[in-house]
Amino acid sequence: MVKMKPVKLVPLVLAFVLLMSLRSSASFTPIDNYLIACGSSKSITFQGRTFVPDTQQSSLVLKSANSVVASSNSTVPSPIYQSARVFEAAASYKFKIQQEGRHWVRLYFYPLTSPGQNLESAQLTVVTDNFVLLTNFSFKNYNGSYLFKEYAINVTSDTLTLTLIPSNNSVAFVNAIEVVSLFRMHFSLTRHML
Ligand SMILES: *[C@@H]1O[C@H](CO)[C@@H](O)[C@H](O)[C@H]1NC(C)=O
Ligand SMILES: *[C@@H]1O[C@H](CO)[C@@H](O)[C@H](O)[C@H]1NC(C)=O
Ligand SMILES: *[C@@H]1O[C@H](CO)[C@@H](O)[C@H](O)[C@H]1NC(C)=O
Ligand SMILES: *[C@@H]1O[C@H](CO)[C@@H](O)[C@H](O)[C@H]1NC(C)=O
Ligand SMILES: *[C@@H]1O[C@H](CO)[C@@H](O)[C@H](O)[C@H]1NC(C)=O
Repeated sequence: MVKMKPVKLVPLVLAFVLLMSLRSSASFTPIDNYLIACGSSKSITFQGRTFVPDTQQSSLVLKSANSVVASSNSTVPSPIYQSARVFEAAASYKFKIQQEGRHWVRLYFYPLTSPGQNLESAQLTVVTDNFVLLTNFSFKNYNGSYLFKEYAINVTSDTLTLTLIPSNNSVAFVNAIEVVSLFRMHFSLTRHML
């Protein structure tokens, strides 16, 4: 009689967990979901998701004294690297955040060679309001051909500011940015690791 209880409980718990995860993954859309193709003139679909040009995302403010666009028709590691926005001075992307808490921040860098631009020697630093994400990064000192960085950041305000800072006599650039809220750690992790 004593052994009956766990036998009955386990399927019930499993069914409940399964039901909850099916329901959540089916309806899960991040509340904050910025997929930004920096400097691009058109939307870019990458891994089934659509990255919108940084000039077309209305809840995003680009604060910059001066920026130029770099783009390439030659082969790039993936479509997301086809364009970049290049800054001659510190510049910020300011995202409106609807849900405070954990967010993924993902940064994509590829040193495009487009007319008048060689980003290979650029050296840059990236900071948020509270964190330093990259310090003096340059492809000059890096073995890879492109750089993808991913951070889980706790956003504790209704905005998130990403600031790109060129080192002296250099430029800063970025090809794409994602800022995505993690509503439930478990489900978003599952989703994004697929
Ligand atoms: C890419 O190709 C298009 C059309 O062939 C051309 O108009 C554009 O200037 C090219 N861009 C670069 C960066 O070479
Ligand atoms: C870069 O590659 C070279 C040769 O392949 C290697 O000797 C060097 O340690 C690498 N540097 C880094 C930072 O991984
Ligand atoms: C985020 O930071 C706030 C304020 O420090 C804290 O109350 C909250 O628990 C943190 N959330 C996560 C998911 O770490
Ligand atoms: C970054 O580079 C600048 C000069 O370009 C230098 O002053 C600074 O110390 C460097 N920072 C780090 C953490 O290496
Ligand atoms: C960077 O440039 C500023 C202004 O020109 C100068 O004051 C500063 O000393 C420079 N820093 C480095 C590390 O060269």
